[in-house]
Amino acid sequence: MCGIAGYIGDSPEQNILYRLRLLEYRGYDSAGIAVSDGEKSDGEKIVITKRAGELKNLEAALKQAGKTAGAKLGIGHTRWATHGKPDEINAHPHVSRDGKWAVVHNGIIENHAELKSELKKLGYEFYSATDTETAAKLLEYYSAQGAAPLQALRQTCERLEGSFAMAILHAGEKKIYFAKNKSPLYLAYAENDGKKRTYLASDVICFSAQAREYYALPDGVYGMADENGAEFYDKTGRIFLPAEKLSAAYTGEEINRYPHYMLKEIYDTLPALRAETTYFESNFTFENYPLLCGANGGRGFTKAVLVGCGTAYHAALSGAGMLGRVADLDSAAYVASEFRYYCPKIDENTLAVFISQSGETADTLAAMQEAKRRSAKTLAVVNAEHSTLAKNADAFLPVKAGTEIAVASTKAYSCQAAALYALAEFLRAAALPLQKRCAPDFSALNALCAGLSYGDGNEEKEIARLFCGGKKLFFIGRGDDYRTALEASLKIKETSYLNADVYYAGELKHGFLALVDENSYVVVFATEEATLQKTLSNAEEARARGAGIILFTTNETALPDCPEEKFFRILRVNKLGGVAGGNPLQCVQNILPWQRIAYELSVEKGLNPDKPRNLAKSVTVE
Ligand code: G6P
Repeated sequence: MCGIAGYIGDSPEQNILYRLRLLEYRGYDSAGIAVSDGEKSDGEKIVITKRAGELKNLEAALKQAGKTAGAKLGIGHTRWATHGKPDEINAHPHVSRDGKWAVVHNGIIENHAELKSELKKLGYEFYSATDTETAAKLLEYYSAQGAAPLQALRQTCERLEGSFAMAILHAGEKKIYFAKNKSPLYLAYAENDGKKRTYLASDVICFSAQAREYYALPDGVYGMADENGAEFYDKTGRIFLPAEKLSAAYTGEEINRYPHYMLKEIYDTLPALRAETTYFESNFTFENYPLLCGANGGRGFTKAVLVGCGTAYHAALSGAGMLGRVADLDSAAYVASEFRYYCPKIDENTLAVFISQSGETADTLAAMQEAKRRSAKTLAVVNAEHSTLAKNADAFLPVKAGTEIAVASTKAYSCQAAALYALAEFLRAAALPLQKRCAPDFSALNALCAGLSYGDGNEEKEIARLFCGGKKLFFIGRGDDYRTALEASLKIKETSYLNADVYYAGELKHGFLALVDENSYVVVFATEEATLQKTLSNAEEARARGAGIILFTTNETALPDCPEEKFFRILRVNKLGGVAGGNPLQCVQNILPWQRIAYELSVEKGLNPDKPRNLAKSVTVE
């Protein structure tokens, strides 16, 4: 969701705009900065520049105005609108009436309406529809009552309910004030060539190679930072140091030869899967995960629930299938935003698995709280090691996809599915009595890495061109094929804004066949031998109604009773080998062409696949 950044230092190329570029994937419907470095502002005043749309609009505006943003002190924001439309007025930073306070904010101030009406009674007027503006006005109010800046910040935080990570400038001070509750906020220092720098950001990606050590600020903390360091306070006003000093190996994700992050990340899948497999082989052991093994053998729980949002939910669906088949464990997948309010029956005999790329998705975090409240054992399967979800779960199984920038998730999905498969193998092994237990068998992961194939992308380009022709799209499948179809459809919606309805193949005749006509393509996902014939019969039902049938199957699937002329097109995917009876991770191979089709569709339509409209990478509001 929104990206916030703060920077104090002396390196023009490290300025606040540079930092915002690194954060733009978190929100791009408007952007703004506030600088106050003496050189670029007139005296004590904070200078604000904001623009609707992508960051490039802000950069152009600064250039046109002859402002360089080479600020030594600044805060900035890339927005994903929650309160108020994505226009210039609602863009951050938001300012106090006297212009002395400027605030950038990520999160939602839930009691903003109440605070606004209180402040309005005191004569404050509001220019925006945002919740953030109330924080700027409260800071001004408490300052006017005689509070010193830090005290005004404390008093303001005491009044705010909900989630917030804020970076704040106060005119005339070479400092950045900050506060954090429930939304992520990090702080880092760096010293190069004897020059000190301090960074503040909602995402560690923003710190670049210069700052390898950083602090994850805990909830309820507020304080101020300058070139020499930072002071932290907790709710009672006591000074303290945040306990958690972290180090990141992150060096920036270079896009290299690829035109977009999404394409790069599709091609990152294989190296990421290899890294993950190597990691699991050494670290996913009974010794490291006592939560998942009963002390005297067995597992210590009798069922599993898997929870996530968006693509992570689709990984959860696949994972639930794997836990059932491989580990013989009663398992079901839930959408996090539903789980919280319509929680299934879970208790201390339940393993609750939370899947997330970012580890900061508000709905998933709330679902985990609910699971904890009901005494379930919690496991986070997360791509971001230092995220809130990873930290707060009873155990953490890392997904090794590496930083993912494109909003539409690709390599993270594949690595999540692989991690859930590893979990299934682990739980199969853990189920045995102690004396019979031996290490989990991860050979299917190795076979996946050895066999994964990308193809040259030409067929995917053709299919993308076909889909641009305006016909209705329906995807059908059974079992794992159905789950792949769900994720394929989500990718296509995200990147191209085309609709592809997904149905269980067997449900065709129970309603949606009424929608099928000669203006339709029905894509038949049929890579599983066991259900092939039944699914092909369903395809026939659609063909009889005039639909063009596009068959998605493996390069080893024979179609004996079904001549190829019956299909408008056949897209064949590599059948993974190396595991008797078929690789349970075939779903990871199967999604690759669909990720590519979604990418090509976006390019074909002249869109930016990395930044779909209305969406954000990390959704930190419920
Ligand atoms: C957003 C992203 C999706 C992602 C979902 C869950 O909607 O655009 O790509 O699948 O959030 O995010 P998470 O970080 O929890 O996996």
